[in-house]
Amino acid sequence: MPQEIETVMTKRQSIREFDPKVKISRDEMTAMLKMAITAPSACNLQAWKFIVVDTPAGKEKLRHYFMPFNFPQVDTSAAVVLFFGNKLAYKKYRKLWQGMYKAKKVTKEAMEAALNTFMPLYEHASEAMLKTDATIDTSLAAMQFMLIAQAHGYDTNAIAGYDASKAAESVGLDPEQFVPVMAVAIGKSAKAPVAMRTSRYDIGESVDYQ
Ligand SMILES: Cc1cc2nc3c(=O)[nH]c(=O)nc-3n(C[C@H](O)[C@H](O)[C@H](O)COP(=O)(O)O)c2cc1C
Repeated sequence: MPQEIETVMTKRQSIREFDPKVKISRDEMTAMLKMAITAPSACNLQAWKFIVVDTPAGKEKLRHYFMPFNFPQVDTSAAVVLFFGNKLAYKKYRKLWQGMYKAKKVTKEAMEAALNTFMPLYEHASEAMLKTDATIDTSLAAMQFMLIAQAHGYDTNAIAGYDASKAAESVGLDPEQFVPVMAVAIGKSAKAPVAMRTSRYDIGESVDYQ
């Protein structure tokens, strides 16, 4: 059963050497990603796309554009999940609302009001806004994924140390549409968890109340 949220959050720490014997079934991976997408997203656009790399051939492709200091995670993890932002997520947005309407979750008026408000925003959005929105949505899903992975007894390492210009094409995605946000290596630590953790600045340095 999932652990208390605080326990899960404080137990998570970046693990860079996994037990290579540990595999994660695709059913369990999908279940964890299904939980990850309970994340909020701007206008509920859900501008994310996940590529789960859990085969030797897939891992080999990552080695062509990941930085060498991230090879241990690539090589020893059960999987590396690539989190991409989808800049054209708004193109399937009507379908989402129509589904909610059919499921009687919203009235026709509410559906039309939402579509009339949000669709023009995205249809006329700048490239920068589409990229930012997709990056934020996807980051939230990635964080949720790391926490749910922890609750399932796995360890993770978020990774942005790779040549981002090669990420989408390497897995057959259109680089014009899909922006690489981060990768998350997942597995079980090869060693017992270390007591020494990374430090955080004093909270006072990051918080102002107004
Ligand atoms: C967006 C992002 C990118 C990161 N990229 C890498 C990376 O390329 N390689 C790596 O070993 N760790 C990477 N990390 C892990 C950080 O180094 C780590 O989260 C940080 O030092 C705090 O330690 P903790 O995760 O153990 O709390 C990344 C983390 C984030 C959030």
